[in-house]
Amino acid sequence: MELSELQKKCEECRACELWRTRTNVVFGTGDPDADIMFIGEAPGEKEDLSGIPFVGRAGQLFDRYLEAVGLDRGKVYIANTIKCRPPKNRDPDPEEQAACLGFLREQTRIIDPKMIVCLGRIAAYRIISPDFKISRDHGVFYERKGKILTAVYHPSALLRDPRKKDDMLADMMNIKKKADELKGIS
Ligand code: URA
Repeated sequence: MELSELQKKCEECRACELWRTRTNVVFGTGDPDADIMFIGEAPGEKEDLSGIPFVGRAGQLFDRYLEAVGLDRGKVYIANTIKCRPPKNRDPDPEEQAACLGFLREQTRIIDPKMIVCLGRIAAYRIISPDFKISRDHGVFYERKGKILTAVYHPSALLRDPRKKDDMLADMMNIKKKADELKGIS
């Protein structure tokens, strides 16, 4: 299946109730052939209104890290674990996450990135391990089925606690370095 076909299916999805309150499905943006795929949690208000992931305050901060380490937003792929905004930005509940996970799986299969970077604990819990502890395990590289998996702090966590920013920069620099190494061996 093509990414555009999957996006259409996602836009028509009624598997949970979030479609009733969302404005736009926030499917994902970037290069469909990206080496790095970033996966956040769920769309917020600005994302819901625009249909584009990470465009609000947290997204603007995230853009600064991409720029700081020399990653082009158009050459990576950015998506979320769930594609519709939960009302008032509440945490997505387990049923909503489970209902949406198939889209993320298929999206990841089509893009086939070399590295998956989880943005925050919710994505890391889903994608890396239920035992993942973001304060302890951020920046650690894991290998699964030929792909590198890692997680960094969610940009919203950096807005709440700027003391985490040094760790974020170090992790993002290592991610860029790792991506360059992976490119070198492929
Ligand atoms: N937070 C997320 O996890 N994803 C977005 O797209 C925006 C904010």
